[in-house]
Amino acid sequence: MKSSSFFPARLFRWFLFQQILFSALIFLVASGVLWALVERSGWSAEALYAGRLIILCSFLSAFVAVTLVSVLVARRLLVPLGRLIDKTRKLREFPFESDEVSAEELTFDEPGEWFDLERALNRLGRDLRQKTIRLSREKTELRTIMSAVSEAVLAIAKDKRVLFYNPQFAYLFNVQVPNREARISEILRSPDVLDAYSEALKTGLTTRREVEVMVSSERIARHFQLSVAPLKKKHNQAIYGVVGILHDITQLKQADRIRIEFVANVSHELRTPLTTINGYLQTLVSDVESGRLEQARDFLKIVTQNVTRLKSLVDDLLDLSALESGTELKVESVSVREITEAVLRQIDPQNHKVHIFYDFENIWADSSRLEQVLRNLMENAVRYVPTGKNIEIRWSKFSPKSCELHVKDDGPGIAYEHQGRLFERFYRVDESRSRAEGGTGIGLSLVKHIVQGHGGHVYVKSQVGRGAEFVCEFPNQEQPPV
Ligand SMILES: Nc1ncnc2c1ncn2[C@@H]1O[C@H](COP(=O)(O)OP(=O)(O)OP(=O)(O)O)[C@@H](O)[C@H]1O
Ligand SMILES: [Mg+2]
Repeated sequence: MKSSSFFPARLFRWFLFQQILFSALIFLVASGVLWALVERSGWSAEALYAGRLIILCSFLSAFVAVTLVSVLVARRLLVPLGRLIDKTRKLREFPFESDEVSAEELTFDEPGEWFDLERALNRLGRDLRQKTIRLSREKTELRTIMSAVSEAVLAIAKDKRVLFYNPQFAYLFNVQVPNREARISEILRSPDVLDAYSEALKTGLTTRREVEVMVSSERIARHFQLSVAPLKKKHNQAIYGVVGILHDITQLKQADRIRIEFVANVSHELRTPLTTINGYLQTLVSDVESGRLEQARDFLKIVTQNVTRLKSLVDDLLDLSALESGTELKVESVSVREITEAVLRQIDPQNHKVHIFYDFENIWADSSRLEQVLRNLMENAVRYVPTGKNIEIRWSKFSPKSCELHVKDDGPGIAYEHQGRLFERFYRVDESRSRAEGGTGIGLSLVKHIVQGHGGHVYVKSQVGRGAEFVCEFPNQEQPPV
């Protein structure tokens, strides 16, 4: 018999008490009847005494024997019951991490109904264990999936209290304490989002909408595609909550905006010289027809200028698209001195004081692309810095990890609000002035792509009225980048 840590003592006492009481009663009645029969038998005094003694002793020993048998029977019946009670109690405390069944559970040594009961209990325990293990596994898997998805997920109950949110949601909306009692309005302020959740709770329909939400970690509004779906009970389809998924589409929106702006800008930039060319050519045709050729030379000059502008614009655009699609750079050891001299020969900044400093002689780069970077920065300096002012070109190495090109001037500078968008295609601070100077706003965007293509990055340091400094950081590679 297996040992059980629990024994049903109360039941045992009750059973024993009943047995003893019952057998004592029977023995009392039986011995009373026999006693009376012996009394009336007319035996001698000695035989009467012996008869009485025999009745008393035999009934007493029978009573003791019955009591002993009762104790044994009670134990035999109640020990398995104790074990079953013990097992039932332990059902709640199964070690659910493992789904192995212990040998102890599968051995049965009690026959009859106890055996059946124990077997049924074991089956119940195994089912419960397997279901709980499956549930806990599913819960872990779901939690892992929820933490891995880039979307923010928030589920609320019918009374608008928070049921669940994933780490991405906590990060975006700075929800630090998992407060189960918090209401959705305490962690999200966006009326659009609150409205979407309320609507799904009310109508029970899955909805989708674009919302703008303030992200606390960045203090900016981001665009999200919000999908909300009601949570329904399986048995009666009653709505008990709503789950919402916030998919960040800020970058998509931005890319869309840039694309739309790009098309508008290209059309605009192409239309201006084309309108001029068209106008002058029409005038020229009528002049030629009427034989007035005095102005033809000037008109043709203007047409040529505009064609050149169109060509340079198209060249820049093609260049930009080639850089964006990741064309190969021909990286080699390039002399920064030669590059600088070549650029100065092309630009010839006679109206400015140019200062040049070299901290190093050679850099691993694509020679023509590096020249393009310096040419664009110098063209800008010459274009936007008043005559007589200073322009400084410095090839420096502040850290062993990077080579830097600085182009600094003491011109009008660039206001802080323009600095973030300065390297975007077609972005110009003063559009009319830049256009008048022949600029299309592509130069700095080309610079950015070329520097990034070399594994570096570019930024501007500037204040209005205090000049501007463009810094291109290139990684200091001993070997060409692969
Ligand atoms: N050194 C500078 N000082 C002041 N403003 C500058 C300077 N460099 C650039 N900018 C501003 O940045 C804008 C963008 O420059 P970017 O070189 O991209 O275009 P652009 O010079 O107008 O045209 P492009 O270079 O395509 O001919 C310019 O329109 C100008 O307003
Ligand atoms: Mg430029």
